[in-house]
Amino acid sequence: MKAPAKAKPIDDIRSYIAALELNGELHRVTAEVDWKFELCHVSKVNEEQKGPALLYENVKGYDIPVFTSAFTTSRRLAIALEQDPSLSMSQLSKKWMELTTKTMVKPKFVKNPQVKENIIEGDAVDINMFPSPWFYPDDGGRFFVTSGFLVTEDPDTGWTNLGTYRAQVLGKNILGSQIIKGKHGDMHMKKYQERGELMPAAYVVGTDPVLFLAGSTLVSAQVDEYEVAGSLRGKPVEVFKSDLTGLTLPANAEIIAEGWIDPNELMGAGAPSANAPAITPATRARTIPSRCCASRASCIATSR
Ligand SMILES: Cc1cc2nc3c(=O)[nH]c(=O)nc-3n(C[C@H](O)[C@H](O)[C@H](O)COP(=O)(O)O)c2cc1C
Repeated sequence: MKAPAKAKPIDDIRSYIAALELNGELHRVTAEVDWKFELCHVSKVNEEQKGPALLYENVKGYDIPVFTSAFTTSRRLAIALEQDPSLSMSQLSKKWMELTTKTMVKPKFVKNPQVKENIIEGDAVDINMFPSPWFYPDDGGRFFVTSGFLVTEDPDTGWTNLGTYRAQVLGKNILGSQIIKGKHGDMHMKKYQERGELMPAAYVVGTDPVLFLAGSTLVSAQVDEYEVAGSLRGKPVEVFKSDLTGLTLPANAEIIAEGWIDPNELMGAGAPSANAPAITPATRARTIPSRCCASRASCIATSR
């Protein structure tokens, strides 16, 4: 087998996309594609045929590209983990265990996070400025997060958790997620509920792929996923302390939507979702982002 092309170290979604392209694992879709049903359909058919990752560069009505199908083959997962692309899934799992059971690598706080290049606050916040796909006709709406994560903090211990919980666009500045009972985000939410406080929360889209992988993998309670990601990379993840919510957030994320979840205010409206059948309207938590940050001048959205 041909040796993999040597890519630059991966520390954000852009360097991951570059590594995929170098290894012939990316296709740029230049034709106009509609975020409503079409984008999801094309990605699904492509994934069923074991096609490459896709970067939609011409999403109808937007100048923000959408990146999909990041990890749908073991070869791409290996590239994301900066491992030999010929490793099998079980070999990659073994590697993951080896790396994450050694020394944890604490994140590094930086002063000027790239994600703060564009900041939109208050009434100006409109999640529809991002090209979130609408997956299936029976879905209740568009999904801002399917391949990102929610950042929350334990109010007692300060433990930061990253959890991949899909987030649907429920209003101009309202996102809804079902955080399944017992998940770490739910454990945090219960603590805020007992205190009678709102829970600071930030939805993050487009990061170093190991952050998404750590956020969607079972990691013990009180273990910081930034440290897990650091141990996978063998170097610290760059983060910053939000001056809005005090949360610790990834410095080079593409998009962050930040606000508070009211643990007592669960959404009762909205259609059940075919994309996410587990989402039942009664258990959606409601978040009100009051600030959005889009990294650099031209951010990249990511989707499942
Ligand atoms: C693409 C994707 C979407 C997911 N969506 C949800 C979701 O909407 N709600 C949920 O509770 N878990 C969801 N999960 C599962 C959680 O990410 C997973 O259980 C993870 O371990 C949760 O983090 P936690 O252990 O820190 O709570 C999803 C996983 C993936 C890979």
